[in-house]
Amino acid sequence: MEIDVDEHVGSLYRTLSGAVVPRPIGWISTRSATGVDNLAPYSFFNVVSIDPPVVMFAPVDADDGLKDTPQNVLDTEVFAVNIVTADLVEAMNETATGHDVDEFERAGLTKREGTRIDAPYVGESKVVFECELYEFVDIGVSSLVLGEVTYVHVDDAVVTAGKLDTTKLDAVGRLAGSEYTYTRDRFSLERPE
Ligand SMILES: Cc1cc2nc3c(=O)[nH]c(=O)nc-3n(C[C@H](O)[C@H](O)[C@H](O)COP(=O)(O)O)c2cc1C
Repeated sequence: MEIDVDEHVGSLYRTLSGAVVPRPIGWISTRSATGVDNLAPYSFFNVVSIDPPVVMFAPVDADDGLKDTPQNVLDTEVFAVNIVTADLVEAMNETATGHDVDEFERAGLTKREGTRIDAPYVGESKVVFECELYEFVDIGVSSLVLGEVTYVHVDDAVVTAGKLDTTKLDAVGRLAGSEYTYTRDRFSLERPE
Protein backbone atom coordinates (compact mmCIF):
# COMPACT_ATOMS: atom_id res chain seq x y z
CA MET A 1 0.00 0.00 0.00
CA GLU A 2 1.43 3.38 -1.00
CA ILE A 3 -0.29 6.58 0.13
CA ASP A 4 0.30 9.93 -1.55
CA VAL A 5 -1.44 12.11 0.98
CA ASP A 6 -2.27 14.79 -1.62
CA GLU A 7 -4.25 12.22 -3.62
CA HIS A 8 -5.60 10.19 -0.72
CA VAL A 9 -9.38 10.17 -0.42
CA GLY A 10 -10.72 9.75 3.10
CA SER A 11 -9.14 9.79 6.51
CA LEU A 12 -5.61 8.75 7.44
CA TYR A 13 -6.81 8.09 10.99
CA ARG A 14 -6.57 4.32 10.82
CA THR A 15 -3.13 4.33 9.20
CA LEU A 16 -1.69 6.84 11.66
CA SER A 17 -3.27 5.44 14.81
CA GLY A 18 -2.74 1.83 13.72
CA ALA A 19 0.99 2.36 13.20
CA VAL A 20 1.76 4.53 16.20
CA VAL A 21 1.19 1.78 18.76
CA PRO A 22 0.97 1.23 21.61
CA ARG A 23 -0.08 4.70 22.68
CA PRO A 24 -0.19 5.67 26.33
CA ILE A 25 -3.53 6.97 27.50
CA GLY A 26 -3.82 10.32 29.22
CA TRP A 27 -7.07 10.32 31.16
CA ILE A 28 -7.69 14.03 31.37
CA SER A 29 -9.75 15.60 34.15
CA THR A 30 -10.93 19.19 33.97
CA ARG A 31 -13.55 21.56 35.38
CA SER A 32 -15.68 23.75 33.15
CA ALA A 33 -16.06 27.50 33.61
CA THR A 34 -19.50 26.78 35.10
CA GLY A 35 -18.18 24.12 37.51
CA VAL A 36 -19.07 20.89 35.66
CA ASP A 37 -16.34 18.28 36.20
CA ASN A 38 -15.17 16.29 33.19
CA LEU A 39 -13.04 13.23 32.54
CA ALA A 40 -12.06 11.71 29.17
CA PRO A 41 -9.33 9.48 27.71
CA TYR A 42 -6.88 10.80 25.11
CA SER A 43 -4.40 8.40 23.52
CA PHE A 44 -2.73 11.07 21.44
CA PHE A 45 -0.75 11.68 24.62
CA ASN A 46 2.89 11.75 25.63
CA VAL A 47 5.75 13.38 27.52
CA VAL A 48 7.30 16.31 25.64
CA SER A 49 9.94 17.67 27.99
CA ILE A 50 11.48 16.84 31.37
CA ASP A 51 12.81 20.32 32.29
CA PRO A 52 10.41 22.01 32.35
CA PRO A 53 8.21 18.92 32.83
CA VAL A 54 5.70 19.17 29.98
CA VAL A 55 3.14 16.65 28.69
CA MET A 56 0.82 16.87 25.69
CA PHE A 57 -2.49 15.53 24.48
CA ALA A 58 -4.26 16.15 21.21
CA PRO A 59 -8.05 16.34 20.92
CA VAL A 60 -9.66 16.09 17.51
CA ASP A 61 -12.66 18.43 17.16
CA ALA A 62 -16.15 16.99 17.52
CA ASP A 63 -18.66 17.72 14.73
CA ASP A 64 -19.84 20.80 16.63
CA GLY A 65 -16.40 22.14 17.54
CA LEU A 66 -14.05 21.70 20.48
CA LYS A 67 -14.61 18.74 22.79
CA ASP A 68 -15.30 19.52 26.46
CA THR A 69 -11.75 18.79 27.63
CA PRO A 70 -9.90 21.30 25.41
CA GLN A 71 -12.66 23.87 25.94
CA ASN A 72 -12.29 23.52 29.71
CA VAL A 73 -8.50 23.82 29.46
CA LEU A 74 -8.85 26.99 27.40
CA ASP A 75 -11.29 28.40 29.97
CA THR A 76 -9.45 27.41 33.17
CA GLU A 77 -5.84 26.88 31.99
CA VAL A 78 -5.42 23.76 34.14
CA PHE A 79 -5.97 20.00 33.83
CA ALA A 80 -4.88 16.74 35.45
CA VAL A 81 -3.53 13.65 33.69
CA ASN A 82 -4.57 10.39 35.35
CA ILE A 83 -2.59 7.33 34.26
CA VAL A 84 -4.75 4.40 33.12
CA THR A 85 -3.85 1.06 34.67
CA ALA A 86 -5.26 -2.41 33.99
CA ASP A 87 -7.70 -2.22 36.92
CA LEU A 88 -9.19 1.01 35.54
CA VAL A 89 -9.71 0.23 31.84
CA GLU A 90 -13.43 -0.38 32.10
CA ALA A 91 -14.00 2.80 34.08
CA MET A 92 -11.83 4.67 31.56
CA ASN A 93 -13.96 3.37 28.70
CA GLU A 94 -17.13 4.55 30.48
CA THR A 95 -15.78 8.09 30.47
CA ALA A 96 -15.38 8.39 26.68
CA THR A 97 -18.77 10.07 26.46
CA GLY A 98 -20.22 13.30 25.20
CA HIS A 99 -21.13 16.75 26.37
CA ASP A 100 -21.90 18.09 29.83
CA VAL A 101 -21.79 14.80 31.72
CA ASP A 102 -19.83 14.40 34.96
CA GLU A 103 -17.97 11.24 33.95
CA PHE A 104 -16.66 10.70 37.50
CA GLU A 105 -20.24 10.02 38.57
CA ARG A 106 -21.06 8.01 35.46
CA ALA A 107 -18.07 5.66 35.98
CA GLY A 108 -18.39 5.52 39.80
CA LEU A 109 -14.93 7.00 40.37
CA THR A 110 -13.63 8.85 43.43
CA LYS A 111 -13.22 12.54 42.78
CA ARG A 112 -10.35 14.28 44.55
CA GLU A 113 -9.54 17.99 44.48
CA GLY A 114 -6.26 19.03 42.88
CA THR A 115 -3.55 20.21 45.27
CA ARG A 116 -2.16 22.96 43.04
CA ILE A 117 -4.97 23.28 40.49
CA ASP A 118 -8.69 24.00 40.64
CA ALA A 119 -9.67 20.76 38.90
CA PRO A 120 -10.51 17.25 40.09
CA TYR A 121 -8.50 14.07 39.64
CA VAL A 122 -9.24 10.34 39.80
CA GLY A 123 -8.68 9.02 43.32
CA GLU A 124 -8.15 5.48 42.00
CA SER A 125 -5.36 6.52 39.61
CA LYS A 126 -1.93 5.50 40.89
CA VAL A 127 -0.11 8.34 39.14
CA VAL A 128 -1.60 11.78 38.55
CA PHE A 129 0.05 14.85 37.03
CA GLU A 130 -1.50 18.21 37.87
CA CYS A 131 -0.80 20.57 34.96
CA GLU A 132 -1.01 24.23 34.07
CA LEU A 133 -1.57 25.14 30.43
CA TYR A 134 1.80 25.76 28.74
CA GLU A 135 0.54 26.30 25.20
CA PHE A 136 -2.55 25.56 23.13
CA VAL A 137 -1.88 25.09 19.42
CA ASP A 138 -4.54 24.81 16.71
CA ILE A 139 -3.71 22.15 14.10
CA GLY A 140 -6.48 21.97 11.50
CA VAL A 141 -9.44 20.20 13.08
CA SER A 142 -7.32 19.18 16.06
CA SER A 143 -5.53 20.91 18.90
CA LEU A 144 -2.25 20.27 20.65
CA VAL A 145 -2.53 20.93 24.37
CA LEU A 146 0.76 21.29 26.22
CA GLY A 147 0.68 21.26 30.01
CA GLU A 148 3.44 21.99 32.51
CA VAL A 149 3.37 19.49 35.37
CA THR A 150 3.24 21.40 38.66
CA TYR A 151 2.35 18.62 41.11
CA VAL A 152 2.57 14.81 40.99
CA HIS A 153 0.65 12.21 43.01
CA VAL A 154 2.20 8.73 43.10
CA ASP A 155 0.58 5.92 45.10
CA ASP A 156 3.16 4.27 47.38
CA ALA A 157 1.84 0.94 46.11
CA VAL A 158 3.66 1.52 42.79
CA VAL A 159 6.96 2.67 44.29
CA THR A 160 9.99 0.45 44.92
CA ALA A 161 13.09 1.87 46.63
CA GLY A 162 11.93 5.41 46.04
CA LYS A 163 11.33 4.97 42.31
CA LEU A 164 8.17 4.51 40.29
CA ASP A 165 7.96 0.78 39.51
CA THR A 166 6.61 0.14 36.00
CA THR A 167 5.77 -3.48 36.84
CA LYS A 168 3.66 -2.49 39.83
CA LEU A 169 2.04 0.33 37.87
CA ASP A 170 0.60 -2.10 35.28
CA ALA A 171 -0.33 0.65 32.80
CA VAL A 172 -2.20 -0.14 29.58
CA GLY A 173 -1.81 1.25 26.08
CA ARG A 174 -4.14 1.73 23.18
CA LEU A 175 -3.76 0.05 19.82
CA ALA A 176 -6.18 0.69 16.94
CA GLY A 177 -9.95 0.96 17.36
CA SER A 178 -11.12 -0.79 20.54
CA GLU A 179 -7.94 -2.82 21.06
CA TYR A 180 -5.61 -2.28 24.01
CA THR A 181 -2.39 -3.77 25.27
CA TYR A 182 -0.89 -4.52 28.66
CA THR A 183 2.67 -3.49 29.55
CA ARG A 184 3.43 -6.99 30.86
CA ASP A 185 5.28 -8.55 27.91
CA ARG A 186 8.82 -7.30 28.46
CA PHE A 187 12.32 -7.67 27.09
CA SER A 188 15.59 -5.86 27.80
CA LEU A 189 17.98 -4.39 25.28
CA GLU A 190 21.19 -2.80 26.44
CA ARG A 191 22.45 0.14 24.41
CA PRO A 192 25.75 -0.27 22.58
CA GLU A 193 28.83 1.27 24.25
C1 LIG B 1 -8.80 4.93 24.80
C2 LIG B 1 -9.36 6.14 24.12
C3 LIG B 1 -8.49 7.09 23.60
C4 LIG B 1 -8.98 8.24 22.98
N1 LIG B 1 -8.10 9.16 22.45
C5 LIG B 1 -8.56 10.29 21.88
C6 LIG B 1 -7.65 11.26 21.36
O1 LIG B 1 -6.41 11.13 21.45
N2 LIG B 1 -8.16 12.38 20.79
C7 LIG B 1 -9.51 12.59 20.73
O2 LIG B 1 -9.94 13.63 20.21
N3 LIG B 1 -10.40 11.69 21.21
C8 LIG B 1 -9.96 10.55 21.78
N4 LIG B 1 -10.84 9.64 22.30
C9 LIG B 1 -12.27 9.95 22.28
C10 LIG B 1 -12.64 10.88 23.44
O3 LIG B 1 -12.32 10.29 24.68
C11 LIG B 1 -14.16 11.14 23.38
O4 LIG B 1 -14.45 11.91 22.22
C12 LIG B 1 -14.69 11.84 24.61
O5 LIG B 1 -16.10 11.83 24.58
C13 LIG B 1 -14.22 13.27 24.73
O6 LIG B 1 -14.76 13.78 25.92
P1 LIG B 1 -14.84 15.30 26.26
O7 LIG B 1 -15.76 15.98 25.25
O8 LIG B 1 -15.42 15.28 27.64
O9 LIG B 1 -13.44 15.86 26.22
C14 LIG B 1 -10.39 8.46 22.88
C15 LIG B 1 -11.27 7.50 23.40
C16 LIG B 1 -10.76 6.34 24.01
C17 LIG B 1 -11.72 5.32 24.56
